[in-house]
Amino acid sequence: MKEQISKIKEISIEEIKQTKDLKTLNDIRIKYLGKKGELTAVLRGMGSLAPEERPLIGSLVNEVRDELEKLIEEKEEKFKLEELNEKLKQETIDITLPSTKIKRGSIHPVNRIIEDIEDLFVSMGYDVVTGPELETDEYCFKRLNLPKGHPARDMQDSFYITEEYLLRTQTSSVQARTMMGNTEKTPIRMITTGKTYRREDDATHSHQFNQIEGLVIDKKERNVSLADLKGTLEVFVRKIIGANLDLRFRPSFFPFTEPSYEVDVTCFKCGGKGCNLCKQTGWIEVLGAGIVHPNVLKMNGYEPEQFGGFAFGTGIDRLAMFRYGITDMRYLYANDVRFLAQFDRKDEE
Ligand code: PHE
Repeated sequence: MKEQISKIKEISIEEIKQTKDLKTLNDIRIKYLGKKGELTAVLRGMGSLAPEERPLIGSLVNEVRDELEKLIEEKEEKFKLEELNEKLKQETIDITLPSTKIKRGSIHPVNRIIEDIEDLFVSMGYDVVTGPELETDEYCFKRLNLPKGHPARDMQDSFYITEEYLLRTQTSSVQARTMMGNTEKTPIRMITTGKTYRREDDATHSHQFNQIEGLVIDKKERNVSLADLKGTLEVFVRKIIGANLDLRFRPSFFPFTEPSYEVDVTCFKCGGKGCNLCKQTGWIEVLGAGIVHPNVLKMNGYEPEQFGGFAFGTGIDRLAMFRYGITDMRYLYANDVRFLAQFDRKDEE
């Protein structure tokens, strides 16, 4: 019987070695270790042995059985691994193939200018602040030296919600808010950008538009002057609209600044020679600006004898029109993807 067992062992090991696939391996398992397998048959036949021989043969069979099981398992692992590798090989991706193009959105031209303006002013030490779009009459007008009934209110046709609340007509409201919020009276260097609203609607005016506002206030002895305002606006215009542009300050009127100016820049279409865009003047009006009015300082908690500064503001949509040659402001709000796709950022990347 011992001989029979070692013969089974020898043959079966050889067979396992020879197998080339999982199926034959499984057949071998059944052939030797299955219920009707050869090794199982040996165990069954043990009844005919002498009692003292039974444990010897029994343990021999078990030994062989364990060994065969181990070999089969190892082989099985090997086959599975091979199969997996084969599969992986077939599924490799050719990364040199051209990819499918994913259509990306683009940043809105107005937002892009806002980002550029914020970056520029932050680099000059300004804070970026925000204010509410639904504003009170007090912050939008009164605290900016525009009491009820002031004729200058007529320049800004407003959307009133109630007697006291309106959609802000200008970001200048944030000037008053910033001053009122600064109880320590530390120097202010801020810009704010955001939506503003007026009852007007044509090719160069939209009922909703965007403004940027800047405010600088410091102690009187620091002497924040018109020269500082001019230098700041020069940097602003040349970085945001065009490097070669010149500025011209024209006296004007705003209730919250004194003196007040309208700031023109060289017409970027004709370079100052005169064309239909600049109405043959060579200049295009871009900004409003001036030295903060003493009344505004006083009304918002600053002593005009001790503090002074400048303020400026402009429409961002107009800047976008200048920069990109957009002919109708309403395109900016029509949400036409054919229009917006032209401002895809990839040209800069
Ligand atoms: N708020 C003014 C406007 O909307 C612009 C401005 C801002 C003028 C700050 C002077 C100073 O027309």
